Amino acid sequence: MRFYRLRDHGSIDNLVVEQGPEPQIAPDEVRVRIRAVSLNARDLMMVFGPSPYGPKPGIIPVSDGAGEIVACGSAVTGIAPGTRVVIPFRPGWIDGPLEAGSIATDLGGAVDGVLAEQVAVAARAVVPLPDAVSFEQAAAMPCAGVTAWTALDRGAPLGPGRTVLVLGTGGVSIFALQIARAKGCRVIATTSTDAKADRLRELGARDVVNYRDCPQWSRRILELTDGRGVDRVVEVGGAGTLPQSMAALAPEGEIALIGLLADPMNQISPLPLMRTMGVIRGISVGSRADLAALVDCAATHFAPVIDRVFAFDEAPAAFAHLASRRHFGKVVIRV
Ligand SMILES: NC(=O)c1ccc[n+]([C@@H]2O[C@H](COP(=O)([O-])OP(=O)(O)OC[C@H]3O[C@@H](n4cnc5c(N)ncnc54)[C@H](OP(=O)(O)O)[C@@H]3O)[C@@H](O)[C@H]2O)c1
Repeated sequence: MRFYRLRDHGSIDNLVVEQGPEPQIAPDEVRVRIRAVSLNARDLMMVFGPSPYGPKPGIIPVSDGAGEIVACGSAVTGIAPGTRVVIPFRPGWIDGPLEAGSIATDLGGAVDGVLAEQVAVAARAVVPLPDAVSFEQAAAMPCAGVTAWTALDRGAPLGPGRTVLVLGTGGVSIFALQIARAKGCRVIATTSTDAKADRLRELGARDVVNYRDCPQWSRRILELTDGRGVDRVVEVGGAGTLPQSMAALAPEGEIALIGLLADPMNQISPLPLMRTMGVIRGISVGSRADLAALVDCAATHFAPVIDRVFAFDEAPAAFAHLASRRHFGKVVIRV
């Protein structure tokens, strides 16, 4: 089979195609013929790293993949070859609260990932796909989609009458918009261009603020909410955007702290949280159960937004496209 190896850090040129034997499966594993993978900001950190998440040298990169089972280990029951599945970002976290040790199973960082024609994975981790969800759509979900899901699913319940703020138009934020709309929430979004703002409105954002034209965007968000603020912020900017996210928070609202896209060295004061009795919750993707719930929700309510699909041989170009930040939603590679 063919697979990509990330031979070293620092450049997309270090992604090279190699050929090797099909992966062996343990008795409790299945072998999946990968049909599509999607890229995340984290995959760029792995290439340009080293990052706090790794990777180990010479890794097979990328965490998010979907395909069909082609072989089952001798102890596997309840799932058979031919089943279409999506693989969780963190196969060691099946359900319930975060299991700290499971972080060592993160694909494409702690261990080899899915930018390969075939992979071996624990049978209990894979999530079967309904016919309504394509391989490309499913491959979009494990990291960005599940992160958006947990950001909105944990903490105080969200629904009609609640307002969610999403920042930018990357994979996590677009999923968060779609999930928040599926829950009946009002969505306010920020973005960098008017063209992206139009697309955000088409997806159901009631209001959009261009953060380049309006650097103090939290003031605009307070105006849009009659001074109350938002109940949940899907915070992908990190230290660079957190002061404004805190300023835009409604009483007892919650910030789901996810990313580090903006100015990670910014010094911030937590004092505004006392004014609102606000909460900051760190998010670390989610479990297999969260992925299964997201697959169900998407099958019923929305199609994940795929910006562009690249061929397997074009994987380096797909990484470069993600790095350009011209994308809207997810960048996918067909395998
Ligand atoms: N904690 C976790 O479990 C977890 C899981 C997944 C991702 N993450 C992190 O979450 C972040 C987003 O990941 P992703 O895969 O969705 O990224 P992505 O697809 O690469 O998103 C990039 C987009 O974010 C927007 N953006 C960039 N700089 C911004 C800024 N200063 N303020 C507001 N928006 C900005 C831009 O959209 P516009 O042009 O529309 O502004 C850009 O196109 C990354 O830092 C990633 O590492 C964390």
